[in-house]
Amino acid sequence: MSGSRRENVGYPECCEIECLSQEKLGRRDVIEAMRLIHDKKVAMCQELEDIADSLPAAVDALSCLSIAAKLLPALQRAHEYEEKVIFPAYEKLAASRGQTISTDRLRAEHISDECFAADLTGILLKIGHGGPVDQAETFGFMLRGFFDGLRRHVAFEDEHVVPAIRNKTLSNRNAVEGDSGLQQQHAGSG
Ligand SMILES: [Fe+2]
Repeated sequence: MSGSRRENVGYPECCEIECLSQEKLGRRDVIEAMRLIHDKKVAMCQELEDIADSLPAAVDALSCLSIAAKLLPALQRAHEYEEKVIFPAYEKLAASRGQTISTDRLRAEHISDECFAADLTGILLKIGHGGPVDQAETFGFMLRGFFDGLRRHVAFEDEHVVPAIRNKTLSNRNAVEGDSGLQQQHAGSG
């Protein structure tokens, strides 16, 4: 099964990158939105790894064109949501606990990932359009460096950022439900 087919499992209404628009992500619960973003990133990493494994002779031109068309726009959309919604919430949550947490490193990784993705896109387009696979070993190292780094980035956010926001969301919900329960008790006793 290719990564592009696998990535839509569980998101039947989801096209390649349209579901990463700020409007569509904004309609989802933040944890659900982050899960979708991470699933998309992980699926793209798998597609790139498949290409790296096929270099140079067995590389599939259509796979190169497919990932080239979505890699950078998907990252840009995901990063915009993370930086406008997720990171501020994460920093605010830490501040409320008297902790100082900076997302500067994660934001810097977003920039370097986008620059890296732009470089890879140019090569993938060239191969996808029938060009020769020049310096296949170097290109393979580039691909592996990119998707290894992206997987580490996703793993860090999964391990630290998402659980913190999930716990805060749950505690907020419990507080709201507790308040409404108290109000019902007061109404019942009044
Ligand atoms: Fe991120």
